[in-house]
Amino acid sequence: MPPTFFATRGHLLICQHTNCKARGSELLYRALWNALERDKLVYYKTGGSLRLTESGCLGACSFGPVMACYRARNGVVEEAWYAAVDFPLARQVAQAMHDETELPDLQRYGP
Ligand code: FES
Repeated sequence: MPPTFFATRGHLLICQHTNCKARGSELLYRALWNALERDKLVYYKTGGSLRLTESGCLGACSFGPVMACYRARNGVVEEAWYAAVDFPLARQVAQAMHDETELPDLQRYGP
């Protein structure tokens, strides 16, 4: 029997490497995970759509915690990278990804 795949709208990755951890990325990851679970935004909850995973170094070590986001919207893959991420910003980005609205510009860098 083939595996069951869940539809997702977006994927958030939070760096858990040394420099980001020193700036609180472990707590940020856990807090965002708890919020996505509580608010049913994770892909395996009814109506949810997001994946959240830990990542290795994302290459912006002096500006952590760093979060990278990918989503497909209107047939185009979008990516957004954020530096010095705190919980309110991470939660705001996650909600925008779920709602398929514009991603916040605050602390965004890269593409
Ligand atoms: S340690 Fe997080 S971006 Fe390098």
